[in-house]
This record gives sequence, structure tokens and C-alpha cells, in this order.
Amino acid sequence: EESQSFYDAVGGEETFRRLVHRFYEGVVDDPLLWPLYPEEDLAGAEDRLSLFLMQYWGGPNTYSAQRGHPRLRMRHNPFVIGAAERDAWLRHMHDAVVSLELPEELEKRLWDYLVYAAHSMVNAPGA
Ligand code: HEM
Repeated sequence: EESQSFYDAVGGEETFRRLVHRFYEGVVDDPLLWPLYPEEDLAGAEDRLSLFLMQYWGGPNTYSAQRGHPRLRMRHNPFVIGAAERDAWLRHMHDAVVSLELPEELEKRLWDYLVYAAHSMVNAPGA
């Protein structure tokens, strides 16, 4: 129905957990991205991204309960994110989104958001 959140429409927590798990399967094999991530806390990183996306799309606010205001650009300041990092991130995310086999309209909404968000996270335009 109209009031259903996007979170519910795509299948709730299980769907976001699958998305992010699949995304990180790509990241661990990526020589450009992998060095940026905390090897000793990959489960934690997976959890943080899952909870953020769940909250963003209308699910529980667990992310902010645990981490506070997202302030994602600030949280990415420690990492040099240029066009190459952005495109690698999006490539793994695209594989992950497609793997969900969502109805086309939902897939497009999710993907369009991720493209926009990834572009807004670039903090080293010249890199
Ligand atoms: C955290 C890289 C884009 C959401 C991180 C971390 C890295 C990273 C290395 C630290 C992992 C951790 O310990 O949690 C990148 C790169 C991007 C990118 C290279 C390329 C554009 C995005 C986008 C989003 C996002 C587009 C949201 C849609 C998050 C969240 C965290 C995080 C929620 C955890 C923040 C926290 O609570 O500490 N990112 N990221 N990232 N990223 Fe990204």
C-alpha cells in the first residue's frame, strides 16, 4: 500500500544485510578499496553500513542509536576518496544490488540513491 516504507517493500533487514554482505565480498578482493577498510573489524563495518541503509530507507533507527548523527561526509574524511575509489565502490555495490533481483522500479530507486550518495562522498576530486 502507499504508506509502506521502501524498507518494507524490498524485504526489510534481511535484504539490506544481503546487499551489504555481497558488497563486502567485492571489497575484500579489491586492491584499491580493501586497504581503506578495517581488516580487524570487517563484521563491524558490514554492520554499520547495513544499519545505516536500513535507517535511511525507513527501517529501525538503530544506526543513530549506536553511532549518533550519520554525518557521513565527515566520517569519510580519514579516507582519500577520488573518482577511482568512488567508481570501485559503485561497481561492487552494483553487483550487490543486481544480486537482490528486486522489481525493476525498486532496484532503480535504490541504485539511483547509491550513485548520488557515492558522488557526494568524493573528498579528493583531483585524486
Ligand atoms: C564507512 C569507504 C561511500 C556509508 C566507511 C569506511 C570506509 C568507507 C573505508 C570505514 C569502514 C567502517 O569501519 O565502518 C567508502 C568509499 C566510498 C564510500 C571509498 C566511495 C564513494 C559510501 C556511501 C555511503 C557510505 C555512498 C552511504 C550510502 C558508510 C557508512 C559507514 C561507512 C554508514 C560507517 C560510518 C560509521 O558509523 O562509522 N566507508 N565509503 N559510504 N560508509 Fe563509506
